[in-house]
Amino acid sequence: MVTKQFPPEFLWGVSTSAYQIEGAWNEDGKGESIWDRYSHQPNHVFNNDHGDIACDHYHRMPEDVELLRQLGVTSYRFSISWSRVLPRGVGEVNQKGLDFYNRLVDELLRAGIKPFVTLYHWDLPQALQDKGGWVNRDTASYFSDYANLMFSTLADRVHMWATHNEPRVVSFIGYGHATMAPGVADFSKSYQVAHHLLLAHGLAVREFRKNGHKGEIGIVIDSEHSFPASYQEQDLQAWQRYYEQDTGFFADAIFHGKYPEYLMNWIGPMQPEIKSGDMQIISEPIDFLGVNYYRGMEVSFHQTGGYLKCKTKHETLPMWGYTEMEWGIHPIGIQMVLKNLQDRYGDLLFVISESGCATRDIVDEVGYVDDKERIDYLRMHFECAWKAIQSGINLRGYYVWSLMDNFEWSQGYSPRFGLVQVNYDTLKRIPKKSFHWYKTVINYNGLFD
Ligand code: BGC
Repeated sequence: MVTKQFPPEFLWGVSTSAYQIEGAWNEDGKGESIWDRYSHQPNHVFNNDHGDIACDHYHRMPEDVELLRQLGVTSYRFSISWSRVLPRGVGEVNQKGLDFYNRLVDELLRAGIKPFVTLYHWDLPQALQDKGGWVNRDTASYFSDYANLMFSTLADRVHMWATHNEPRVVSFIGYGHATMAPGVADFSKSYQVAHHLLLAHGLAVREFRKNGHKGEIGIVIDSEHSFPASYQEQDLQAWQRYYEQDTGFFADAIFHGKYPEYLMNWIGPMQPEIKSGDMQIISEPIDFLGVNYYRGMEVSFHQTGGYLKCKTKHETLPMWGYTEMEWGIHPIGIQMVLKNLQDRYGDLLFVISESGCATRDIVDEVGYVDDKERIDYLRMHFECAWKAIQSGINLRGYYVWSLMDNFEWSQGYSPRFGLVQVNYDTLKRIPKKSFHWYKTVINYNGLFD
């Protein structure tokens, strides 16, 4: 019996991203991206893995859409590889790249699945990196031209658009920590990068509105459930800095048209250069906010905790535990994250644009994976999403990360996040137990005990 019914028309989906699944890194005119460059260099990615073939989705797309159809999702979130459609980031268009996404969108619509397109999931064309990447202000205008190209190609058939996926990761991990492409170990660039990403977002939203496209546009941020380790002043302030960098920097700019003052004062000379009119562009109204939710994080003050003077610890409770990547499972955090965003920014329309876990999958002799842990993880998180809706949060959909096992960035192919098992030798896909379980949830539009 269904005990937790979701609202009618609730969007049940799965998410993927281009570099993580497509492969065909240099085929049919595709240009090099920063992830191609980064992963081809030794010791950047675990096991020296790279996305040259990945799940070979570029060649197996109809088979993958068939999996989506069997799963019964009502929406599918995927990203466009910028360098597949504009090999050098600007200028010459690669028609074969556009054709691929045209076919994908058509296949989805034929299967009754609403396309949700992310324009930027971290794979900048290398040619633009060579001109300074996101440190270069011009990249924001190049992005807006690229967005326009995709709007004019697909907007007649696409329901939802996200400009960026998790700009925080690009700004502070791609730059700063440098454990992701482009691997620039310099935090003094991070805030300028973040500002240009946001500027690019705002310019694209303006273009979308100007041209009167149907469909909706938003952005995807990642918000962990972070909380202070104690109520001591030092920990509270450390947490505030952490939250403002992770979430506040991006969301304040978009919804309030300014950057968080406390954080800006703290970082002093690292503040980005902001030109007149930038914040108006960035705060152009959007239709929805995508939130990627994975884990809980405890934050405390630490003298040697970098320029933010913060120390973080993955946090969970014994009854929940940790995922295979040692991320702290924290289902209730989903309610808190959405509630905090609502309190800070008002009544927003949300989607959970990613949520899922890596598990220690054991493949049996016929290739089947009995991934009970993933089912448990999803059940607990769906339940909390349901509670969030009951408490008045306007949550429109939930996208599980991910449809299938794929290239997990600097961790290569070792973590497995998929509802579908991928054998990387044969590229055969086999739905796991969680796939069948999720199908039932979608079918009943709710959870049952
Ligand atoms: C990213 C995905 C990634 C997932 C799991 C998210 O932050 O958007 O690309 O695979 O987390 O790490």
